[in-house]
Amino acid sequence: MSEGAAKKEEKPRKFQAIKGTRDLLPPETALWNRDVVSKEMYSFLDNAVPRLVSLANAITDWPDPTRDEAEFSAYKNYVSNFIREYERAIADDELHSSSANKPALQGIKDSFNTLSGTSLKDDQSKQLARDCVRQIYLAMRIAELGDYLTLRPEATASVCRAYIEHGMQQLPQPVKLYYMGPMFRRERPQKGRYRQFYQIGAEVLGGSDAPAIDAEVIEMVMTFFDRLELQGVQLDINSIGDRNCRPKYIELLRAELLKVKDKLGPDSQRRIETNPLRVLDSKLESEQPIIATLPHIADHLCDDCKTHYAAVKHQLEMRGVIYRENWRLVRGLDYYMRTTFEITAQGLGSQNAVCGGGRYDGLVELLGGPPTKGIGFAIGEDRLILSLQESGKAPAQQGRNVYIAWMGERAHATAIRAAKDLRKAGFSVELPPVEQKFGKALGQADKLGAKYALILGDNEVSEGLWTLKTLADGSQAKYTEPDLLEHLRKQKAL
Ligand code: HAM
Repeated sequence: MSEGAAKKEEKPRKFQAIKGTRDLLPPETALWNRDVVSKEMYSFLDNAVPRLVSLANAITDWPDPTRDEAEFSAYKNYVSNFIREYERAIADDELHSSSANKPALQGIKDSFNTLSGTSLKDDQSKQLARDCVRQIYLAMRIAELGDYLTLRPEATASVCRAYIEHGMQQLPQPVKLYYMGPMFRRERPQKGRYRQFYQIGAEVLGGSDAPAIDAEVIEMVMTFFDRLELQGVQLDINSIGDRNCRPKYIELLRAELLKVKDKLGPDSQRRIETNPLRVLDSKLESEQPIIATLPHIADHLCDDCKTHYAAVKHQLEMRGVIYRENWRLVRGLDYYMRTTFEITAQGLGSQNAVCGGGRYDGLVELLGGPPTKGIGFAIGEDRLILSLQESGKAPAQQGRNVYIAWMGERAHATAIRAAKDLRKAGFSVELPPVEQKFGKALGQADKLGAKYALILGDNEVSEGLWTLKTLADGSQAKYTEPDLLEHLRKQKAL
């Protein structure tokens, strides 16, 4: 291995934004705001180094390199080329030395060294050569010949990564961040469950895990839903303990589940081993009476968690937030501890959670940052909109304020200027790109639900008096340019 490559291999693994992506952080977000009012994942190899991939494919697809000496020697050439190209790619920064690549390369080199001293002269050497070929094959399968990327299934982990990468622990704490955007999960699609969906989320990160923060975060979403008049809103809360008490509860739960294993479905049977908490999530009808008899985590919290949970409930009560305790609310993501919550709404069928969240102290540390407390939530926008639509609370589609019906080249120039001024004054304007007869233009204005049609023909332009037609009653009046703007402003304010 070259010295450069060796140096790179020693670098500790850092969680950083992927090349070509960037974090939008305050104060830059203020600028954006002026313009913009164990999940199934999509993973793929990006930025692969083509010559390495083709060499690796040739090597791993080789049917039997030990068939004869000529083939054996050709194979060895390929492996030696691969090693050389691999080290060059690392040295030239074409390839990251990932944690998988280090043992993979070592394995390939070790086996290649043995292979170099081997011939096919007798059965024993042939066997040794075959073993090496197999080792090389296995090592190549784990080598990552590019960047393994995953479309984000959620954003909490990315927010923690950004907190670390941008040294946000230096800012006044707690740091309050939000995000919105598409997430991707390879789940079975159904009503309210999509493979690409949209979330609006908020996270509070810092040194304090005061229960008032948990309550305030929950209060904020509840207030938002209240303002939207979301119907049938139900807040469920729970505490799932911390690293002191949860492992003991999980063991207890596992022991209890093993006693009734035969009565459980295959998914839950599997989860007894992998993640017994998730059995509590089960919606399978036949399992419900069994689950009802299982021990509740609330009875097994350590003193600190018990006190924290009681204080969160008290803080919610102080804020008038109505909640239901749901001891089965464990949530599907691994990073949670203590407070978990979920909000459901009506009209959504089985996928009725519009928001989920919880506390995740320790996640920043896990990603290589300083000890940091964290809590947050994400709202599923698709479900939020579905629920609002089903209950008739979605805002009606807004028509245009003004449709500009213009005729003639001179009028076109005036219309363009008028559109610009009206838009600047905050009106939504439709400006037809090509000339239309007035009759057709007014029909179009009607279809678009415009409130007014501004009529601009040769007469209007030469007189400096513009005609404004109110489409609801057909009334018409003439205004000078400044008067027209003033009139529309007054109407808008009414
Ligand atoms: P989550 O419960 O996995 O939590 O997702 C939050 C919300 O996103 C869900 O309540 C749901 O409304 C929506 N959602 C999830 N999956 C889908 C899907 N396949 N199709 C449509 N909507 C979906 C999280 O993602 C955590 N990161 C929340 C969080 C933030 N916890 C702490 N901070």
